[in-house]
Amino acid sequence: MQPMKRDSNPERGERRPFSIAPMMARTDRHYRTFMRHITRHTLLYTEMVTTGALIHGDRPHHLDFSDVEHPIALQLGGDDPKAMAQCARWAVEWGYDEVNINVGCPSDRVQRGQFGACLMDQPQRVADCVAAMRGAVSIPVTVKHRIGIDDRDKYDHMAQFVEIVSQAGCDRFSVHARKAWLQGLSPKENRTVPPLRYDDVVRLKNDFPHLAIEINGGITDMESAKRHLRNVDAVMVGRAAYDHPYDWVHVDGEIFGDAHPIPSRHDVAEAMLPTIEEWTERGTKLLNITRHMLNLFAGQTGTKAWKRALSTHPNPPASEALATVRNALALVPRPESVDPGAPTVASPC
Ligand SMILES: Cc1cc2nc3c(=O)[nH]c(=O)nc-3n(C[C@H](O)[C@H](O)[C@H](O)COP(=O)(O)O)c2cc1C
Repeated sequence: MQPMKRDSNPERGERRPFSIAPMMARTDRHYRTFMRHITRHTLLYTEMVTTGALIHGDRPHHLDFSDVEHPIALQLGGDDPKAMAQCARWAVEWGYDEVNINVGCPSDRVQRGQFGACLMDQPQRVADCVAAMRGAVSIPVTVKHRIGIDDRDKYDHMAQFVEIVSQAGCDRFSVHARKAWLQGLSPKENRTVPPLRYDDVVRLKNDFPHLAIEINGGITDMESAKRHLRNVDAVMVGRAAYDHPYDWVHVDGEIFGDAHPIPSRHDVAEAMLPTIEEWTERGTKLLNITRHMLNLFAGQTGTKAWKRALSTHPNPPASEALATVRNALALVPRPESVDPGAPTVASPC
């Protein structure tokens, strides 16, 4: 197809070549704070929040975040332009750097709400949401989507979707390079069973060179991320950032060009102590914070002891929370130094 040329609006929001994907039950504020001690520049996403939850529910609970989490994008689930515009306004009020529309989730609950991946079939509806949001806010409005759904999975289906939505002013397309089967596969299976089709995402970038295109799905290491960046504008990583958080400690230097000293794994754990103190004093269960840190020492001597120590003390009194984490940390051998001569404590921003 013959795509229309448009300005890429480079003044609207900084380009972010690397992001950590939105993940329900994972990318909450504690995980995001933890990752911020590993990478200062990576764009972080919230979990998906539905427009209904923001309109009728506990808004501060869903939207509050701390300053160290910037740059941060709010991901919305919904399909009603007015509601999406209202939620985008709240995103600005709360200080988010970007607002993103979920057009990739295939869960039954989301399908019943008529949003998520099933919106790939309704590009005009998504364009109406983008237009309403762009009319309401000046932060970037972006879309995360699949390469197709069910049997509407040809490249041209996706290109037509992107063509229509881009004309409404979407600032970036983050493409999970798999189709989704809306019937018959669970959300988990929909992240593994349909094959990855990276070539379709690269073709999208070639056909729409004026658009910012981010590739997502199955990217597990820095070398692959850097390889993808030769062909597209940005890389989004989900599960590999959760399962191996420290593997991404070189992102700032190698992708963002900020060669600040690299914190050690121990530095990262210690940098979380003030957050742990604050939130356990506010009544949060310790494991709700430390669960995101269990993989910090993945592949290292002591990782089992660290996990066991944190998991067997899920909810100590707040006065014992720091000692619990320090005791767990003492079970992991401390390397001499990751970056000799460098300052050891990472400041989040
Ligand atoms: C536990 C979990 C929850 C997820 N929740 C969301 C979500 O809320 N919104 C969304 O757009 N994608 C969600 N995803 C999909 C991821 O954002 C990402 O597209 C997918 O995992 C593929 O990337 P990866 O192979 O790097 O993990 C979720 C994935 C996982 C594993």
